[in-house]
Parts: sequence; C-alpha cells; structure tokens
Amino acid sequence: MTNPYQQAYERSINDPEGFWGEVAQNCHWYKKWDKVLDDSRKPYFYRWFPGGMVNTCYNAVDFHVENGRGGQDAIIYDSPVTNTIEKITYSELKDLVAKLAGAFASRGVQKGDRVLIYMPMIPQAVIAMLACARLGAVHSVVFGGFAPNELATRINDAKPKIIVSASCGIETQRVIPYKPLLDSAIEIAKSKPDHCLIFQRSMVSADLIAGRDLDWNDEMSKAKPHDCVPVAATDPLYILYTSGTTGVPKGVVRDNGGHMVALKWSMKAIYNVDPGDVFWAASDVGWVVGHSYIVYGPLLQGCTTIVYEGKPVGTPDAGAFWRVISQHKVNVMFTAPTAFRAIKREDPNAELMKNYDLSTFKALFLAGERLDPDTLRWAEKSLGIPVIDHWWQTETGWAIVANCLGLHSFPIKQGSPTKPAPGWNLTVLDQNNDIAKPGEIGALVVKLPLPPGTLPTLWNNDDGFINAYLKEFAGYYKTADAGFIDEDGYVYVMTRTDDVINVAGHRLSTGGMEEVLSDHPDVAECAVLGVEDQLKGQIPLGFIVLKAGVKRSNEEIIKEIVKMVRDRIGAVASFKIATVVKRLPKTRSGKILRGTIQKIADNKEYKMPATIDDPGILDEIKEALIKIGYADAKK
Ligand code: COA
Ligand code: AMP
Repeated sequence: MTNPYQQAYERSINDPEGFWGEVAQNCHWYKKWDKVLDDSRKPYFYRWFPGGMVNTCYNAVDFHVENGRGGQDAIIYDSPVTNTIEKITYSELKDLVAKLAGAFASRGVQKGDRVLIYMPMIPQAVIAMLACARLGAVHSVVFGGFAPNELATRINDAKPKIIVSASCGIETQRVIPYKPLLDSAIEIAKSKPDHCLIFQRSMVSADLIAGRDLDWNDEMSKAKPHDCVPVAATDPLYILYTSGTTGVPKGVVRDNGGHMVALKWSMKAIYNVDPGDVFWAASDVGWVVGHSYIVYGPLLQGCTTIVYEGKPVGTPDAGAFWRVISQHKVNVMFTAPTAFRAIKREDPNAELMKNYDLSTFKALFLAGERLDPDTLRWAEKSLGIPVIDHWWQTETGWAIVANCLGLHSFPIKQGSPTKPAPGWNLTVLDQNNDIAKPGEIGALVVKLPLPPGTLPTLWNNDDGFINAYLKEFAGYYKTADAGFIDEDGYVYVMTRTDDVINVAGHRLSTGGMEEVLSDHPDVAECAVLGVEDQLKGQIPLGFIVLKAGVKRSNEEIIKEIVKMVRDRIGAVASFKIATVVKRLPKTRSGKILRGTIQKIADNKEYKMPATIDDPGILDEIKEALIKIGYADAKK
C-alpha cells in the first residue's frame, strides 16, 4: 500500500504537468495557463504556467475578504522590543495594501518597476511587499542587518524606483537609525531612486530630504486605493539577493504563478496547516523564510501570520517563544536551530515553558542550517510534539526535503530532514558524476525541471544562472550542498561545497569577507572560513598574512579589519575573530587549503593533503588557532 506522500511524489515526478496543473486549480486565475510547463528553452530555462494571468496579492488578501475571512486576523504584530501587540484583519490589510499601492502608483510605480524594501520587522514591511505584488511591481527586500555598502550593491543591481524604509530598527535594546544607513547607501550607489518612502517610528524621527523623501503617513492619507493588476504567471514577483562565492550577491528571481501555486500547496502538504490556523515563522522578512513563510505562504492559505520583532532570548527572556505561542494560539512554528540553541543555553531544563499553555502547538519546523541532534532531542523532549527538520535554500523558495506532515508523517531519523518533497527529483552524484550508491556522500543535485516556485533565473543575469547552478552537472540543478541518501530514501545534508557559510541561520559568503580583508593596506593575503560555534552553528574566522615590513601591532590591524567587515558587510556577518599568520597552507598549484584549516580549527581528524606545498605550515596554523581558543591543544 502506498501512502499519500508516495502517491504525490511519484505523480509529481512522472507527470509533473498533471500534478501541478491540478494543484494550481486551488488558486485564483484571471486567465488560465496555456500550458502547465514550457520547456521550449531547455536544458536551462523552464517556465511554469505560461499564458496564465494572476495577481499574488489578490490571492493572498482580497480572495479571503471576498470569501468570508475579512474579520479574521491576517497579521499579528508582536513586538516585545516596543511593548506592542497589534492585530490586522484581512479586511484592514486589504485597505492598507490597496492604499499603499495607490501611493506607489501616484509616484509613478508601474508593473515591472522595482521597489526596494529596507525595513525592520514591522507590519509595514509586509504591507509594502503586498502593495508591490498588487501593482505587479517587483520588490526586493534587503535585510536590515546589512551595511550601506551591501545595500548599495543591491540598489545598483535592482535599480528601484522607490525605496521603502523606516526611521529605525531595534536590536533587543539598541535602537538603530536606518535613515543614515539608507542615505549613505544611496550616496554610494550609481543608480538613484526617485523617492524614499519613510515610516517614522516613535523612537527616532528621520530627517527627510525635501523632494526625494516622502512620509509614509502623509502618502497614505492622500492615497486612492488601487486595485490588483493582473500579471503574467511568469512575471517576476520579487528579487531576493543571496550570498554566493564572491562578494557580489546573486539576485534570485521568483515568478508570480509558480510561486503562488507551490507555496499555497506547501502550507497543507508540508506544514499541515489549514485556513484559519495561526502560523509563525520566527525569522525576518529580509530572508527567504520571511518571504515564503511570514508573508506569502500563510496569507495565501488564509492563515494568521505572526510578525515578531524580538529575539528568542533577551526580549525579555528565554520564555519569549512560549509566551508568543500561548498568547496567540500558534499552531505551527518555523525557525532556525540557532534560536533553539540560544533558548537551551539560557534555560536548559525548559523551566520557562511551564509558565505557558502550549496546547495549540502542533509542530515545530526547523531549517536554515544543519539541525544538530542535541538541539533536536532537546526540542522534542521539552515540547512533546513533532520537531521537523527540512532543507531548502533561497533559490528554491520552499523545501527540497521535508517530512511532509500533511501527506504522511515518517518516523524521524536524527540528522536527516527526511525525504524529497513532491516535485523534487533529488539525486546524489559521485566524483565521476555517476549516481552514488545509498549511503555514499556526493553532490546533492536535482534533475531538471525544478518544480514551480523555484528560481527561473537570476535578475538580469541568465549566464550567471547557468554558470552557478546548471553548468557543472548537465541536466541537473546544483544545490552546492553535499550529502547522501540512505537505503530507506532518507536524505542527509552534510556541508556546502562552496564558500558559503551559515551563521545563526544567516547565509554569508566567506569570499565576500576575504574581499574586504584584502582591501586593508597591511594585508598581503587572507583566508576566511567558517568554524563550528555552539550557538550560531558556524562563525567566520579570519587568517591574515601581513605585507613585508609592516611594523604595526597585530591587535591594531585585527581591530581594523573587524571594523571593516562590520562597516562594509554588516553586523550580521558576526566577523569578530582573526589571527595573523606568517603563511597560509596551500596546494602546489596555489589553492588555499581552507578545508584542512577548518578541520584543524574544529579539532577534527584530517589527512595531510598530498598536494600541500609545505606540510610544516599546518603546525604553525594549529599553534595560531590554539592561541585564539580553537584546535584543542591535546590533539
Ligand atoms: N538590523 C541591524 N542589526 C542586526 C539585525 C537587523 N535586522 N539583525 C541582526 N543584527 C546584528 C545583531 O544585533 C548582532 O550585532 P552585534 O554583533 O552588535 O551583537 C549581529 O547583527 C549578529 O546578529 P545575530 O547573528 O542574529 O546574533 P545575535 O547575537 O543578535 O542573536 C540569535 C543570536 C541566535 C538569538 C539570533 O541569531 C536569532 O534569533 N536567530 C533566529 C534565527 C533566524 O532568524 N534565522 C533566520 C533564517 S530562518
Ligand atoms: P539560505 O539560502 O539562506 O536559506 O541557505 C541555504 C543553505 O542553508 C543550504 O544550501 C544549506 O547549506 C543550509 N541549510 C538550510 N537548511 C538546512 C537543513 N535543514 N539542514 C542542513 N543545511 C541546511
């Protein structure tokens, strides 16, 4: 007997058009698609639902108002850092979004124009995203923890007509004025927006530049509500920049039709969430988790979504998550393992949990980084509900591998996010690009076409898309993760195969940090790699070789490079530790042996690389690492 998961999975692989064509009927279309899947530009470009006309905002907001959910809360804004709880019903959300869309339109924003959103976790960020979707404008949300330089790179690439921001963000107790960051990003950027729309928060009043800057409340009070604009299913809904191997971020494009179909379906199939349920993704709208599961997924499904402006600990304590779950009757929650590690560290026996009624809480989903068994066990034991690891990426928009609770609940194997979700023809390729045997580690790749909701290309960069994802393994999408599939079909994701690291669930490029370090006048050579960290999973560690003749103290130079990374990339990089070494270990062809240094730092077994040019350097590296508290001296 096959279970519903197996039936769905097999159909999605053997008859993708039949499977997704049927799923798509659960959404509202102004005009039905001509074809479910257009593969006329294979082997690289596939498009879902060409010919179809839709509006994502209509499906996420208006549809629910017209179908009896107008009075239901769409958004609950819970902000322990400002002591605020605010509820917005679907009807109210529709009015706010329609007005903001009207305000955008009155300032010249039209279908296809870009709008950049640089906002803290407040409902206005969600309203701005939906207002773009309503007009068919393309939003690009940039995480608030990025520095002006990173913001400028994204402004140059997306060329937004309008930038939406707020006067400040709040990090636990620290108020961070956003406007000076935005102003300096615009100054650095070559592309200039026509306007900046600023939401003034009570803690900081931003200075507005006459003519360019607009006040959110003024614009809203004048605006005429704008209706939803039908767009092609294949038109872009948003661009989300993510880290790659270099300092230049990749603009992942998401279309309207496939994204809407896949996300709405995933809410039931993967998360087992029904319309009316309360869903909480404790992330940030600046990340893909925020796009997919704070905003679009839950709203498309008619759920109540929580916008949480706080941390797992410190706002005010390690019971914050339990307070939110009980107060708002959360049914399903999604966050990164690092958040649970932070809670476990402060409240190892989960004492604070006992103060709250968590009876509505049905399942916890974790993603963004590898779920360590200790955190999994702790969460399972303390909560007594299914704790589901699932694996996905900014590029994929939704889970590649999951325990699809709405289809069939599989027994959990520690260390595995379970099985490929329907739509994902996942394989492991060995060093010869042959299909690996069960249990054998190799490159995790997905046979094309990717399912709906995934990236059709990179923004204005088809070549970059092909080169980054499709060139290396012909006919497959390269995830850049390595892992294996066991005899029972369970997938294990082990490590990235490129220079991307995951710091507190945030994806960062070590290559990008190296570019910053190399710019320091005293640095001759450098390497940045991710080492294990008990709280954040990984943190970046820098190695620098100084130019000959540099007489300044190492401490002074390290202080400067730490500041440079914070100023140029942002606090979110968590780059705080670096060390000066005489040389870096390299292969004879000059490649820095990052993997070996990483193993030494993490105190793991390593083999002396056969191609190393000078084996003695590894002892020097180990000594340097021991001095800064890594690479246990005993080994
Ligand atoms: N705006 C400005 N600064 C920000 C920011 C934002 N939106 N988000 C983070 N930062 C800053 C932090 O204040 C911190 O600054 P500091 O070095 O001065 O302390 C720095 O960036 C690093 O942030 P973070 O890695 O988040 O560390 P943290 O110590 O503040 O918090 C956790 C650690 C584990 C509590 C936190 O990372 C967390 O809650 N993670 C939840 C998981 C999550 O949201 N994952 C996203 C993908 S699902
Ligand atoms: P991001 O694009 O920020 O979502 O980061 C995607 C990367 O995070 C993946 O390529 C993986 O390396 C890692 N990742 C995400 N989820 C998991 C998971 N459940 N297990 C292991 N690694 C994960």
